[in-house]
Amino acid sequence: MEEDGKIPHSKLYIFLNFFTITASIVIIYIVFVNNDSANAQKSYEAPKSLEFAIIVFRHGSRSPVLTFPTDTSQWPEGRLALTSKGKSQMLKRGQTLRERYGNFFNYTFRQEDFLIRTTNSSRTRMSLEILLSGMFPADLYRPGNWQPVDILTDNFDKHLIIVKPELCPKYGSEQVAAFQFDTYLENDRDFISFLFRKTGLLVGDPLDMLVIWDVLNCSEEDGSPLPDWATKNVTNKLTNEIEKIMSLFVASTPRATTFVEGPLIQYFSDWLTQKLSGNATEKILMHSGHDFTLMSLLSAVGFKNIPIIPPASVLIFEVHKAHKSHEVKLMFYNSTVQYENSEVETLVEPIHLDMPKCSGKCTLENFQALLKEYEIDERAWQERCHEQ
Ligand SMILES: *[C@@H]1O[C@H](CO)[C@@H](O)[C@H](O)[C@H]1NC(C)=O
Ligand SMILES: *[C@@H]1O[C@H](CO)[C@@H](O)[C@H](O)[C@H]1NC(C)=O
Ligand SMILES: *[C@@H]1O[C@H](CO)[C@@H](O)[C@H](O)[C@H]1NC(C)=O
Ligand SMILES: *[C@@H]1O[C@H](CO)[C@@H](O)[C@H](O)[C@H]1NC(C)=O
Ligand SMILES: *[C@@H]1O[C@H](CO)[C@@H](O)[C@H](O)[C@H]1NC(C)=O
Ligand SMILES: *[C@@H]1O[C@H](CO)[C@@H](O)[C@H](O)[C@H]1NC(C)=O
Repeated sequence: MEEDGKIPHSKLYIFLNFFTITASIVIIYIVFVNNDSANAQKSYEAPKSLEFAIIVFRHGSRSPVLTFPTDTSQWPEGRLALTSKGKSQMLKRGQTLRERYGNFFNYTFRQEDFLIRTTNSSRTRMSLEILLSGMFPADLYRPGNWQPVDILTDNFDKHLIIVKPELCPKYGSEQVAAFQFDTYLENDRDFISFLFRKTGLLVGDPLDMLVIWDVLNCSEEDGSPLPDWATKNVTNKLTNEIEKIMSLFVASTPRATTFVEGPLIQYFSDWLTQKLSGNATEKILMHSGHDFTLMSLLSAVGFKNIPIIPPASVLIFEVHKAHKSHEVKLMFYNSTVQYENSEVETLVEPIHLDMPKCSGKCTLENFQALLKEYEIDERAWQERCHEQ
């Protein structure tokens, strides 16, 4: 049957059949699998299980708080003001949040979906406004159209007591005890007197060190030159010290965390309770705050070595549907580092942080139970601040 090198019918049939099946698989792949992948979740998008979220962020890069006698840095915006870099950071973070949560809020601002709050300072209010303009861009097809978004200012976030302990005297005196700064000065006399010689600032307490570091850090962040004496060795040492100092400010004891962010934590927890009872319509609660805000929250969920929080970092408590309950996931957009390594800045995935006090699968019940330790309302907070 195989004379003339002809392919027998049966073999031809198998070959054609093979071809048809292969072609069909390819077609099926193109029609279904490909189509599916077009609709599939991108890794940076929030999963469909998301039910609601609390988004807390630090304002963008700013100019320094204070100055020291030899400081020559120039800040055209004035003190404690959002810089141009800070403004563009916030716009990008807003765009990033739109990429992650757009599906969740249907790419539209509906009043009932959002509860948006900020501390009462111009850098947090402005950061929030810019971020929102990235999240809810104007409709390009209707020139002049823009999306106004309602913002509430409040005083739940008590970060100010760190730099103004007179606002909460008890916190101030407990911090002095926690620091033992005199011993610290003794132990590192050389470095402290070096700082004094170079800056002209008599370093008498941790806040003085913070003032020096802040000027250098803001300058570096802004791309401005540092003074000659501020070598890498010096700034690295100073940054290490400041990391310890800032950690002590917010987390020397659970009481310290409660003083700094207890009322905010109570507010968050109340909102979660309202959500569970079906009394809150909002899908997203936002709070525009400070480095100390994020550090305190990290302390509350059990982190011990709390890093310095760079400008425009974002911390998110995502509440997901889970079997018969809800699961809380802590997500973090870690500063510029993470963005600068990304091809497309706005498509960055947040880092998932495992909460030491609610490790693994963290149910909402367990999460709320851990917050209890820090919750305090305004009246009790005032009383505790003025206890003898
Ligand atoms: C999402 O928005 C689109 C356009 O604004 C609207 O047609 C659609 O009904 C919305 N979907 C939901 C689930 O609200
Ligand atoms: C915000 O601060 C301004 C002064 O800077 C003050 O007049 C205003 O009452 C404050 N608002 C709140 C809600 O504390
Ligand atoms: C500024 O702070 C960041 C941490 O937020 C740190 O990595 C950097 O080294 C600091 N630079 C200076 C000059 O203090
Ligand atoms: C920086 O620190 C390293 C290690 O402590 C030291 O070897 C080096 O000499 C220092 N450099 C300067 C310029 O002080
Ligand atoms: C929810 O609203 C209902 C009706 O207004 C009220 O009875 C209930 O106490 C509320 N629940 C919470 C947790 O506030
Ligand atoms: C953020 O990134 C920096 C640099 O990679 C790292 O040192 C720091 O620990 C990170 N922070 C957190 C909370 O992951």
